[in-house]
Amino acid sequence: MKLLITGSNGLLGQKLVANCIAQQIDFQAISSGDNRNPSCPESNYASIDITDFNVVEKFINENPCTHIIHTAAMTNVDACELDPTTCYRVNHLASNHLFEVAQANQQHFTLLSTDFVFDGKTGNYSETDLPNPLSVYGKSKWFAEQELINSTYTNWAIARTIIVYGVGYSLNKSNIFSWLINELTQGKEVSLITDHFRAPTWAEDLASGCMAMVRHQQTGIYHLCGPETLSIFEIGLRVAKYLHVSPSLIKPIDSNTLNQPAPRPPITGFNLNKAKTELGYEPHTIEQTLEFL
Ligand SMILES: NC(=O)c1ccc[n+]([C@@H]2O[C@H](COP(=O)([O-])OP(=O)(O)OC[C@H]3O[C@@H](n4cnc5c(N)ncnc54)[C@H](OP(=O)(O)O)[C@@H]3O)[C@@H](O)[C@H]2O)c1
Repeated sequence: MKLLITGSNGLLGQKLVANCIAQQIDFQAISSGDNRNPSCPESNYASIDITDFNVVEKFINENPCTHIIHTAAMTNVDACELDPTTCYRVNHLASNHLFEVAQANQQHFTLLSTDFVFDGKTGNYSETDLPNPLSVYGKSKWFAEQELINSTYTNWAIARTIIVYGVGYSLNKSNIFSWLINELTQGKEVSLITDHFRAPTWAEDLASGCMAMVRHQQTGIYHLCGPETLSIFEIGLRVAKYLHVSPSLIKPIDSNTLNQPAPRPPITGFNLNKAKTELGYEPHTIEQTLEFL
């Protein structure tokens, strides 16, 4: 088994690299920039833009692998809304191309996707629920998913996840928990929305789930998120309680006041029955993970 990890500089990519090293699984890692993950040996790394289709194809042909976990993406939801052309090129077209290369080489292909493929009217989504994305980001991921779902090649899997958090090296973005811990430990007030509900996912759990999918050569869609769906405001209260800071630092606000460019699904969260049964996926609670952040 040899794994190709795209997006190895990202939060999930770094955890996948760590899993491969710990489990002595041969791997190749790629991201667009220089290697920012000191745990990833330079000999296992290549700087490749996945939208350079010829370069990607040549690289994969010259560095054969058995499995691809495709995490690389344009992940800033508002940036995607403001620049749909780039978003679709990275998240849809480049994913589609990677999938084509995987098919040509008979490789197992896992695509990382998102709760933002759903419209957020009901929450607790199962793998069989029908997506209806609201944003450019959500659409770009749903388009990428459909290339797999509608393909005659069946050696693929999709891992959908929700607000991924954890600690990594030189990440290009913060996550809600790192930001909350930083602000609250300085005694700063934070304003958090009460009308959007999510199941935040510890990156270590997500990486374990993805590795289980690969190890067992699973195919089809899997929902992998944290065990609890909470409002963003409630997430703030849980972090404040853990840090022993006053809950009065958490100010409730409505999402409309944020004027974010991209529309977001109000209620997501996943039904985890399939992942628990088929992958043995048992995600940690927020409190169990906070000591590692
Ligand atoms: N984070 C979340 O809350 C969340 C929620 C739902 C779904 N997801 C999905 O989960 C996956 C992993 O998320 P993440 O948080 O680990 O992402 P991330 O931290 O934003 O990392 C994304 C990675 O993609 C790489 N990348 C971006 N454009 C590229 C390109 N054109 N060519 C090559 N590499 C490129 C970046 O490389 P450089 O850093 O070198 O530029 C970066 O390492 C993504 O597919 C995302 O859509 C994430």
